[in-house]
Amino acid sequence: MLLRWKLESQSPQCSFTPFTPAAKLRLHSGPGAFCHSSAAQTKLLNKQNHYVLSGLRPTGRVHLGNYFGAIRNWVGLQDQYRCFYFVADWHALTSDYADPSRIRASVFDAVADWLAAGLDPSRCTIFLQSEVKEHAELHLLLSMVTPLPWLERVPTFKEQQQQLVEKDLNTYGFLGYPLLQTADIIVYRANFVPVGEDQASHLELSREIVRRFNNLYGPVFPEPQALFTATPKVPGLDGRKMSKSYGNTIGLTASADEIRALVMTMFTDPNRIRRKDPGNPDICNLFQFHRLFSTPDVIARVDHECRTAQIGCVDDKKLMAEIIIESLAPIRERREKIEKDPSMVWDALKAGNQIARERAAETLVNVRKAMNIQYDELMK
Ligand code: TRP
Repeated sequence: MLLRWKLESQSPQCSFTPFTPAAKLRLHSGPGAFCHSSAAQTKLLNKQNHYVLSGLRPTGRVHLGNYFGAIRNWVGLQDQYRCFYFVADWHALTSDYADPSRIRASVFDAVADWLAAGLDPSRCTIFLQSEVKEHAELHLLLSMVTPLPWLERVPTFKEQQQQLVEKDLNTYGFLGYPLLQTADIIVYRANFVPVGEDQASHLELSREIVRRFNNLYGPVFPEPQALFTATPKVPGLDGRKMSKSYGNTIGLTASADEIRALVMTMFTDPNRIRRKDPGNPDICNLFQFHRLFSTPDVIARVDHECRTAQIGCVDDKKLMAEIIIESLAPIRERREKIEKDPSMVWDALKAGNQIARERAAETLVNVRKAMNIQYDELMK
């Protein structure tokens, strides 16, 4: 049995709901997670007793892929759980250690976009990984109990090493990426981690490490569960997955003119060569964006008018650009306000870091005790 509920109904204070029913998200707990049968029971999963933790490396401004893939879910979860969201700047160093010059600006851009997208520091804790040193201490302690092959067999380790050939990723830090990620999660004794399927193997490793730790030293950590979020596919301008490394993104807070220019470069039905050829929305990349942004009426109308060649691709691009611009206007406006007052970002982080530190410090007291690395009473 799966626990399902609609995200938009969870966040009455989030005013941004310009999406079609098709795009509205459903979340469900991962396999093996709690089974609840009624709405009343779902209330048990409330902020008081369940912690959600998630993070993203600072890769700069949020694009639509990040937004639909993660941030929009984060916004919806704020009122369901005690949510901790952080910028993984140490993780950025695992691959960008040779040139860390862009990390600081990327931290600002990421958090500014998160706030613009609707994360609210009064309803969730937003913090910066490197400001909570307990992650590093726990990472060190976990490294003592983690068998090397467990890290070596994480699929993303070899894949990324092979893909990012221009970087030397044969480092201790890079191998330890999922171990640091484990520390990030369990230092808050998090119950749920909203992750994409690509992160599932990392979370499986985290669970194994927790079991090993608890077996060795006693029950310190809960086993974190994946909170798989059913996310719509967001193609890039060229039809491949939207990703910064492909250079095919649309920024969540891009200006109206940027959006117009980008949408004009979008791939459409490759078989539709002349204006009078009927198009096929099923294989049109542009049409995918209608599914994300347009109302059912518009979707039906465009579908019909494309198939009957009443509108051409350029007409449709113009329409699409205006729909995206309008849908994202509230987010863009919030980002402009933040731009004028950057302290909104740093203040949110400062407050969040403090809350995170308190929770993490509590965990470390228990960990040190469990591992017998605790000398407080002798060092007074
Ligand atoms: N690996 C995540 C990313 O792609 C970032 C991350 C670091 C993370 N630690 C985490 C995600 C803990 C979830 C939980 O950017």
